[in-house]
Amino acid sequence: MTATHNHERMEHDALTALAAEIRACTACPLHRSARQAVPGEGSAESGIFFLGEAPGYNEDQQGRPFVGAAGQLLDELLAGIGLDRGKVFITNVVRHRPPENRDPLPEEIAACDVWLRRHLELLRPRVVVTLGRHAMYKFFPAESISRVHGRIRATPGGLAVFPIFHPAAALHQPALRSALVADFAALALFLAAEPPKPAPPEPRPADQMTLFRD
Ligand code: URA
Repeated sequence: MTATHNHERMEHDALTALAAEIRACTACPLHRSARQAVPGEGSAESGIFFLGEAPGYNEDQQGRPFVGAAGQLLDELLAGIGLDRGKVFITNVVRHRPPENRDPLPEEIAACDVWLRRHLELLRPRVVVTLGRHAMYKFFPAESISRVHGRIRATPGGLAVFPIFHPAAALHQPALRSALVADFAALALFLAAEPPKPAPPEPRPADQMTLFRD
């Protein structure tokens, strides 16, 4: 096994463990009305981290993010720039479905903060693509999405964030759909210009004993 494979396996195991913690979360009342938590899925392979708002009906049923109509549009937009969802990570600001798909409340968003921080620490993405205003507010609380969408912006901590509209909004507004297509094209240009994460170093012989112990 190469250092890259080993790194990927450790990352996969850490993601699985984190997902189990999120599934057991009772930090806000949403866990009582939801069927199950939707921790998020995907990989760090492309370094792209998509952040949506909250699970809807289909996501709540399946325990997976973006599997309904908005998810289908997201898949199409990803395919348009040569990416599939297995190569990106996809999650939401809140990890349990709000009743009747209402907006998440500030206290629910705050209770879920820890999971976003843990996912970001684990995956260290090249760019966080925020879908819709709730996700954008996590990083730029005073901004307006129509002003900042489609452009890369750094947080004070140096994280690259790329705000775009939410695919669900574009399902009913053709103008937003063309804005999303244009924003994905701009995202592709950014990714092409930005060097990917360096591969982890090859293990030295002494490290291999620990790496392969199990
Ligand atoms: N909308 C979201 O914001 N997240 C999902 O997972 C599905 C729809």
